[in-house]
Amino acid sequence: MEVTNVTEYDAIAKQKLPKMVYDYYASGAEDQWTLQENRNAFARILFRPRILIDVTNIDMTTTVLGFKISMPIMIAPTAMQKMAHPEGEYATARAASSAGTIMTLSSWATSSVEEVASTGPGIRFFQLYVYKDRNVVAQLVRRAERAGFKAIALTVDTPRLGRREADIKNRFTLPPFLTLKNFEGLDLGKMDEANDSGLASYVAGQIDRSLSWKDVKWLQTITKMPILVKGVITAEDTRLAIQAGAAGIIVSNHGARQLDYVPATIMALEEVVKAAQGRVPVFLDGGVRRGTDVFKALALGASGIFIGRPVVFSLAAEGEAGVKKVLQMLREEFELTMALSGCRSVSEITRNHISTDWDTPRAQFTPRL
Ligand code: FNR
Repeated sequence: MEVTNVTEYDAIAKQKLPKMVYDYYASGAEDQWTLQENRNAFARILFRPRILIDVTNIDMTTTVLGFKISMPIMIAPTAMQKMAHPEGEYATARAASSAGTIMTLSSWATSSVEEVASTGPGIRFFQLYVYKDRNVVAQLVRRAERAGFKAIALTVDTPRLGRREADIKNRFTLPPFLTLKNFEGLDLGKMDEANDSGLASYVAGQIDRSLSWKDVKWLQTITKMPILVKGVITAEDTRLAIQAGAAGIIVSNHGARQLDYVPATIMALEEVVKAAQGRVPVFLDGGVRRGTDVFKALALGASGIFIGRPVVFSLAAEGEAGVKKVLQMLREEFELTMALSGCRSVSEITRNHISTDWDTPRAQFTPRL
C-alpha cells in the first residue's frame, strides 16, 4: 500500500528489521513517558490561520549558520544506520543532498566522515560525542573539518546512556559485520557484548562523564567549525551555552532516550528561545512527524527542526528512496500548512499563527448555582 505519511514507515520497519535493531531505533528511556509526550504535546498546539492572503507562491527556503537550504527540515544524527540498510549513512547523505537540506552525521555512524563526504556535495554537520581520550576527539574533529563538514553538533545530554529497557532485554550490541567506522583505526570501533545493553557499557567505558562548559571552550580552540549545543532544554543552560561560545542551540531530549519525564521538546522550546534573545539560532528535534509540527516549532521561535527516527525507519523500508520520500512528504505538508495559515515565507510565520494552552490564563471555574 502507498505510504502517505511519515509515521507509516515505523510499522514497515518493525516488520522488516530484526527485533534487536527495531527496538534500538524505536525505544525511549524507562517508562517512555517523554517518548509519548514528544508527540502528544504537538497535538495540544492549535492554529490561528489567516485567510484571504495570496498564497500562490510559497517560499520555504531558509538559512542555517549562513547556509541556504531548501526548507527548515534537517536530519538529526542517528547512530548505526547500516543496521537499517546496507547503504546506511550513504543513502541518508544522498537523500539529504538531493532534497537540498542538511544531514548531521553521528559520531557512531557505521560509515566514516570521509566515506560520507565522498558521496558527493552537500551541507553536512558532524555530531560529536566526547571520549575520555581527548586525542581521539581532536583527531576526529580535524578529520570531519577536513572532510568538509560545516558545524559540530555537540551532544551534551549523554554523560551516561539512558536506561532503555528493550536494549537491556535484547542484550543490544552492534552486529559483528559492522563497526563504528569513525573509530575503526583507533581500536574503538567494536562494541563488546555485555550482560545488559552493549551500548550502555561502551558509553560507560569510553564517554567522558566529566564533560563541562570549559570543554565547549576547549573545542573552539581545536576547530573553526561553529558549535551547536545539542540537548539544552532550560533557560539557564541556554544562557551558559551562549556564554561558552555556542553558535546555536538544539532543543533536544535525545528523542526521549536519556532522562525520562523531561518535557516534550516543543514544550521547552519557547523558554529557550526567550533566553536566547535572538543572539543565536535555536533548533528543535523530537517527535516531529508532520508538516504541521514543523510550522508549530517555527511559530514558537525555532529556526528549523531535525528528524531522527523517520530517517532510520524509512531507510529500513526503502533505503535512499525512503529517506527522500520522508523529506518530500514533510516538505509538502509544511508547504500546505504555510498556505492554509496564510504564510508565504518562513519569515511570515509568527507566534500569532498558533495558540497554546499556556497563552491565556484558564477561565476561572464558576459553579452555576
Ligand atoms: C538518536 N539520537 C542521537 N543523538 C546524538 O546526538 N547522537 C547519536 O548518535 C544519536 N543516535 C540516535 C539513534 C537513534 C536510533 C535515535 C532514535 C536517536 C537522537 C537524535 O539525534 C534526535 O535527538 C532524536 O532522534 C529526535 O527525535 P525523533 O525525531 O526521533 O523523535
